[in-house]
Amino acid sequence: MAQDWTYPFSRSTDPHVDLASQDAFNDGAPYATFERMRREDPVAWCPESGGRGFWSITRHADIADLNRNPQLLSSARGIRMEDQSEEEYEARKTFQETDPPRHTHFRMLVNKAFSRQEVAKFEPQIRAITRSLVDAAVEQGEVDAVEAIARQLPMRMLGQIIGVPDADSDWLVEKGDALISNSDPDYTDFVIDQVDTEAYRLLPFRSPAAVELFDYANDLIARMDRGEDVGVLNLVRQPDKNGVRISDDEFRNFFCLLVAAGNDTTRYSIAASIHALANLPHLLEAVRAMDEDAVRTAADEMIRWASPTTHFRRTATEDLTYHGKRIAAGDKVILWFASANRDAEAFGNPYEIDLARSPNRFVSFGQGGPHVCLGMWLAKLEVRIVLEELARHVGSIAQVADHSYLRSNFILGIKRLPVRMTGR
Ligand code: HEM
Repeated sequence: MAQDWTYPFSRSTDPHVDLASQDAFNDGAPYATFERMRREDPVAWCPESGGRGFWSITRHADIADLNRNPQLLSSARGIRMEDQSEEEYEARKTFQETDPPRHTHFRMLVNKAFSRQEVAKFEPQIRAITRSLVDAAVEQGEVDAVEAIARQLPMRMLGQIIGVPDADSDWLVEKGDALISNSDPDYTDFVIDQVDTEAYRLLPFRSPAAVELFDYANDLIARMDRGEDVGVLNLVRQPDKNGVRISDDEFRNFFCLLVAAGNDTTRYSIAASIHALANLPHLLEAVRAMDEDAVRTAADEMIRWASPTTHFRRTATEDLTYHGKRIAAGDKVILWFASANRDAEAFGNPYEIDLARSPNRFVSFGQGGPHVCLGMWLAKLEVRIVLEELARHVGSIAQVADHSYLRSNFILGIKRLPVRMTGR
């Protein structure tokens, strides 16, 4: 296998990276490790310092198979690697940490608001925001593309959909970062594996930033109780046919989930796209020649390439044997979506960015499972529009200094990307 994963797209060449470590993705995704695991040990037991260990599933076909079976592999015992007590789990859970049929009920409430048709209505706003960000970056010439473009767009867009004012979006981005980037000292003082976060164990992501987001969510609840329309959030509090609706605790957790999930993942897809365009200039030329459908296909490929959520976790509900390994009831099982997206059994030339790749069975959004990303259509739309606006208004993009990655084994992302952009 050619070393196609090496710099600038990943500097990690060690085939034995400890995937339990928050430092595992500091040099980009550990593709050499995933490559070895897919080949030699596709259902691998991984010990975990400070935790009870987990099974790693790394092949595309196995992830597709297991992800669609919540009866066997449940989300209702936590969805990240972290071990949680019953009390922590109960305090922090959202509908993402439930299984069908409970999950299905909640999901139906919010599906329509995030459907392809509904989010398409936001195209003009997304384009206007993107256009202004791209123009400003070109005007400046040298920028950190993450700060200037990738970090700005997703929260502003999500804010419009969920009904929070534009003026609050910087604050929400900062708090969202403190939650989901809770392992990176650039984003929080409460680094999850370095300082004692016991006092915050009942808060989402064990983060004190959640307290401020809870206050913000309480204001939204008060507004809704007064009969105000707060975008799609009103839908989330609709009672079901038995008159039961989500509790205020669940609502607050859901709000934190949206602010965290709707923010970083799209940002890192955009950052990875700009990184690719900056290092492979023929890609920008290719996008210029594309019609809208072709850019849609290209955006999917960029999101496969980016794979911003490296994994999600499930818990075995019963003893099972898989590829000859005995997984016991209660064991943690990690589905490594980032590995599946580079599996040569599912993708020809998986380390190549093929903007015309079709079919593209990428799993960045957890496709195929009941928890398939709620924000998928929004994220795809944003990435497509960023590609289109860059192609229209940018003559060239070049990386001018080293980029750096988020410190996290959960979210894979470029957090600094110094580039020079010229206009057309
Ligand atoms: C490129 C950007 C994104 C990526 C790669 C991504 C990735 C994912 C993945 C892999 C899952 C499945 C989790 C599982 O299987 O347990 C998921 C679920 C989810 N995502 Fe995203 N996401 C992105 C953008 C967004 C956005 C913009 C939003 C905001 C609306 C969002 C909100 C959610 C929510 C609420 C869930 C839970 C859905 C459920 O449990 O039914 N995501 N996302």
